[in-house]
Amino acid sequence: MNNDLYAVVGNPISHSKSPRIHSLFARQTGEQLEYTAIQAPENDFSATVTGFFERGGKGLNVTVPFKEQAWKIADRRTERAELAGASNTLYKDSKGLLTADNTDGKGLVTDLKVNHGIPLAGKRILMLGAGGAVRGVLGPILAEEPAVLVIANRTVAKAEGLVTLFEAVAGQTHLNACGFEQPAEAFDIIINGTSASLQGDLPPVSANVIGADTVVYDMMYSLQTTTFNQWALDQGAIRVFDGLGMLVEQAAESFRVWRSVSPDTRPVIDELRNE
Ligand code: ATR
Repeated sequence: MNNDLYAVVGNPISHSKSPRIHSLFARQTGEQLEYTAIQAPENDFSATVTGFFERGGKGLNVTVPFKEQAWKIADRRTERAELAGASNTLYKDSKGLLTADNTDGKGLVTDLKVNHGIPLAGKRILMLGAGGAVRGVLGPILAEEPAVLVIANRTVAKAEGLVTLFEAVAGQTHLNACGFEQPAEAFDIIINGTSASLQGDLPPVSANVIGADTVVYDMMYSLQTTTFNQWALDQGAIRVFDGLGMLVEQAAESFRVWRSVSPDTRPVIDELRNE
């Protein structure tokens, strides 16, 4: 019997760790699958997806710059994808409908809660950034019922837009928007969801947001300490984490969605960290 076929689609795609992660999951669980990387032309994402499923493909991960397009071309969306406005996981449902899911937020929350032992319930959280990456994770964060979630962004109107979008699912959480310069007191958890470090920048937040117990989480990952985490360490933070665990956990959630099998993420995170 042929192996079931999965792939990650993006542009560029050669640096993606997804094929490695899913191959490790498949080996560990004994699932018979093959997982490749597909570079889609910028203007031809939809045809790439259609062609993949016509060839019998079972599921796709989607990465930069196609997550919003994946969301748009789907026949139906899971609730968490609907809120995220973007999709990183596509598959055909039992009726053959192209379904868009989003496992990024679940990946972040699982990494914090399970891998690092940091529950979000009742916590005061500062989220830096208000782009697609942040929108993708807000639903699952709010579902954990933090006490406060402040979204700070360079363009304040975008942070305000996210507050408007997510108000309905915020429950008891105090959800607020502001500029980077505004927060002036220590938070329990600070999450960097900006892409500032790609330009060698830092979001210009006050050092006062970091207290001795503040957990700092950079959604970016890197073999060295990330620029943002280095800044946080320099301000006295002790517990800083990057997004490698999130990357592996979002992959594990996609694997569960497709295969109904839960891989053990710990050895995979350890292996990638040491590569
Ligand atoms: P992504 O998909 O990575 O979220 P995005 O939607 O372009 O990409 O969002 C990038 C985020 O990083 C935004 O919050 C952006 O701020 P603006 O909304 O003001 O553009 C933030 N960002 C990017 N470069 C930045 C920089 N140099 N300093 C501070 N924030 C930056």
